[in-house]
Amino acid sequence: MRIALSTGGGDAPGLNAVIRAAVLSATSRGWDVLGICRGYYGLLGEDDIIPLTRNSVRGIGHLGGTILRTTNRGNPFHFPVLQPDGSYREIDRSGELMENAARLGIDAILTIGGDGSLSIGQKLHERGMKIVGVPKTIDNDVSGTITTFGFDTAVNTAIEALDKLHTTAESHDRVIVMEVMGRNAGFIALHSGVAASADVILIPEIPFDIEKVCDKVRERDGAGRHFSIVVVAEGAYPVGGQESVLGDSLPGQATRVGGIAGRIAWEIQERTGKESRSLVLGHLQRGGSPTGYDRLLAMRFGGAAIEAIEQQKWGHMVALQSPHIVAIPIADVLASQKRVELNHDIMRTARASGIAFGD
Ligand code: F6P
Repeated sequence: MRIALSTGGGDAPGLNAVIRAAVLSATSRGWDVLGICRGYYGLLGEDDIIPLTRNSVRGIGHLGGTILRTTNRGNPFHFPVLQPDGSYREIDRSGELMENAARLGIDAILTIGGDGSLSIGQKLHERGMKIVGVPKTIDNDVSGTITTFGFDTAVNTAIEALDKLHTTAESHDRVIVMEVMGRNAGFIALHSGVAASADVILIPEIPFDIEKVCDKVRERDGAGRHFSIVVVAEGAYPVGGQESVLGDSLPGQATRVGGIAGRIAWEIQERTGKESRSLVLGHLQRGGSPTGYDRLLAMRFGGAAIEAIEQQKWGHMVALQSPHIVAIPIADVLASQKRVELNHDIMRTARASGIAFGD
């Protein structure tokens, strides 16, 4: 048996732990393991294919990033190609990828990625490639699994930042608005905001009214709490408005969302007269060592993925359905997008604790 591993999309803490567990589990069965560098670039002749041995994965379980490197621009079905006039044209290079995999004697591919990589995996599976997936993303927006690895680390990074912002906000009687990642899902904002006692949490699942946000700031001020902490998910947007986007995406890349925190801080300052500041936590949330929770989950996913390959569960993704890791069809996973449930107990507890959601 010869398998190949690919890490695609944005990196997430725990990728190396998945690679380590998968390589050790596969080699202990006597299988050959290859690493496809930078998403699928390695299988398109645009980057390397490397052997992965027990030696290659020594001492990497606690490290952030991915030893295979990654990209969110390498979709083989929509591969961006630079034209002589400087524009880009997308071409389908999936046939070439399948041929290269066959030439290298690759029996199955383990794709470690979020919804983008999983949908590429599903399309390759439909073309006859033997695929098993592992759900990765700090956004936690993959259906069918209680959580993805990387999410816990991102939430902890956000909590640490919020704890630090609390002391400076309080010292200066300021409002501080912190923007966290999550694309169209509010999980990082909700979980970090509740755990770090934010005063306002704004998520894409609840369009906000800026006056309601200001009411909360005024209410606290009136009660002698002269500072406020607002956590906003990058994809949050006002009632009747749209998410804030950054116009700097490269060809083949999804539109980047972000920039909402600055706008909200300015609006709060204008409307309440309270001095306000903002920051974007950004890629700090994707970096560094995985938490113990993420490390263990990633190791479990890696080991379970090799079992799924052994059981020939092609087109399946490993998922946490506590207390077990199961394998579920990728097609089912892609049929819906996971978002914050508005009646979830975390939401109820947040509201009961006085946290405002701008609604
Ligand atoms: O999906 C993970 C994520 O970090 C999102 O939360 C964020 O919107 C996006 O990736 C950022 O992508 P990039 O690394 O291209 O800036």
